Amino acid sequence: MSTPASDAFRYAHAHHHEIAWMSQNTNHLVPNEIIRTALEAAVRDRRYEGYPLATGDPELLDVIAKDFGMPGLNPFLTGGGTEALYMTTRALLSSGDEVIASDPSYLIIHRFVELSGAVPKNLDIYAPPYRLTADRVQEAVGPRTRMILLIDPLNPLGSGYPRDEVRAIAEIAHDRHLLLLNDVTYRDFSDGHALAAEFAPEETVTVWSVSKNCGLAGLRLGGLLARPELLKTITRFNTNDLGVNVLSQAAALAALRTKPQWIGAVVRQTRANGARIREVVAGVSGATLPVYPSRANMMVIDIAPTGVSPDSVQDEMLRRHGVFVRAGNYLSPKSGGRFVRVSFSNPPGDIERFATAFPATIKTLGARAPAPRTA
Ligand SMILES: Cc1ncc(COP(=O)(O)O)c(C=O)c1O
Repeated sequence: MSTPASDAFRYAHAHHHEIAWMSQNTNHLVPNEIIRTALEAAVRDRRYEGYPLATGDPELLDVIAKDFGMPGLNPFLTGGGTEALYMTTRALLSSGDEVIASDPSYLIIHRFVELSGAVPKNLDIYAPPYRLTADRVQEAVGPRTRMILLIDPLNPLGSGYPRDEVRAIAEIAHDRHLLLLNDVTYRDFSDGHALAAEFAPEETVTVWSVSKNCGLAGLRLGGLLARPELLKTITRFNTNDLGVNVLSQAAALAALRTKPQWIGAVVRQTRANGARIREVVAGVSGATLPVYPSRANMMVIDIAPTGVSPDSVQDEMLRRHGVFVRAGNYLSPKSGGRFVRVSFSNPPGDIERFATAFPATIKTLGARAPAPRTA
């Protein structure tokens, strides 16, 4: 019997010392001393007693601006990219507007779109090339379209957009007077990543995060990047009028300043882990990887032909093996019943635990499963 996701999270947090955390695209490979030293110094200086500079640490803002290298676009700090996504949709969308998006997708953004009264128009992308294309976007634009949601690389599939496709989608936004929400949370994992703001600086709102690239998900820091007038419109909905967490800012500053020194090793280990997971999946009949290699630090394992439900895989792997992967239903209304998502910016030991747990789980549950589903 499968249990709700909230129960799985409660269980995983209660046992976090023994869990291989492969469920939330978090990053467990960033050198710990860098973060620890920054946090210890901030605590020693009792920075937590006072409010931060409301607009954010100028040094941090400067490092972020340099990291993106987009003069003319201003960075803004929020409590995780999530808050930036909420503010953007809340500020820029109205009742009846349509947003071109995909299924699968990071559906929390779709929920924010709906909260603003707008409607996500989800294009089914669970087939090659497993991402939007400029042609499909062009075709989907209608009189009510107000925004295009471009998540690149895409959670959960790990698919990424070639530079020419980003340019073509950005040109649609420009030509048709649409806003382009470019969520680049996983951009550091993607070779040759292109920012849509390069091609449509007026229309693009870039949402970034230090949760995944810098391994700081628990500190909840992210933000926006947009031209000043657009940023002003969005930040009317800022709730952090007194600034975002000082300790998070200290850790993000240390991480981003040193990123060029360690990001290459993090991405290489992530890729090697992805290759190991591919090997394991290849040995399990009925399991396949729709997108490989991932341009992010997660991918989807399609298990529909095994007849085993993703929820039961999540449960069995977590409770019997201490390996936490995620059932797909929270990422895709249409295809979520076909897959689990696994993330792999983890130490190789976690990947080996997956290598044992996944085949064993499919075997155990497969023996109990009803007739297999076909594609
Ligand atoms: C595409 C995407 N955007 C935003 C977020 C949220 O990021 P943050 O931790 O900065 O709120 C996630 C988290 O998984 C994500 O996958």
